[in-house]
Amino acid sequence: MNTKPSYLGLLNAIAMGERNGAELFNCWSSVTTNPEVCAVLHTVALREAEHAVAFEKRIDELGFGVMPRIDAQHDAKMTIAASATLSDRQKLEQLKLIRSPNGSGGDVFDTMFENKDIDPVTGGLLGRYIAEERDTGRLLTGCHGALCAAEGTHVSAASPSMEDLAQQVADAGRHLADLVRCIGASLTPVAAR
Ligand SMILES: [Fe+2]
Repeated sequence: MNTKPSYLGLLNAIAMGERNGAELFNCWSSVTTNPEVCAVLHTVALREAEHAVAFEKRIDELGFGVMPRIDAQHDAKMTIAASATLSDRQKLEQLKLIRSPNGSGGDVFDTMFENKDIDPVTGGLLGRYIAEERDTGRLLTGCHGALCAAEGTHVSAASPSMEDLAQQVADAGRHLADLVRCIGASLTPVAAR
C-alpha cells in the first residue's frame, strides 16, 4: 500500500474545486453577449479544466483516486453564472471574483507551501497552478474594471471593500482547511480499493 502523503487532501480539494470552476466558467461564457468577456471566460474555463485534470493525474500518480465532494455553494454559483438578467459586472461581483486593486491582503494560496513534505513534482504543479490562479484573478479584475468603465460606474464603488476581501480570504481558507481535513482522512489507496 502506498503511504498517504500529508498533502493529498489539498490536491483533492484543488481537483474538485477546479472541476466545478470549469463548469461555472463554461456555463457563463455560453450565455454572455459580450465577446471580450466571453474570451476571458473561455481562457479561465480552459485553465480550470486543465488544473482539474492535472491534479487528478497527480493524485493517480501518487497511487490514489479523487474523492468526489459536494460544494454546498456550487448550485447557487451556477445559478448566478447562468443568469440571463444579471450583467457580467454583477456576476463578477456576486461570485466574489474581484481582487483588491493592488493585489494586497493575501489570498487562499499563501499557505499552500507551508507543508514542507511536498515532493518536487507536486511542488512544480502547485507552483504553476498558483501563478495561473493569480493571473486569472488579474484577468477577471481587469475585466470588471473595463465593464465598470463602459457603464460609467466607479470601480471602487462596485468593488468589495478591503473588509469584504479579508472576510472572503478567511472564508476560503476555512473552507479549504475543512476540505483538507475531511478528505485527507478518507482517501483510499488504489491498491486498497
Ligand atoms: Fe481555479
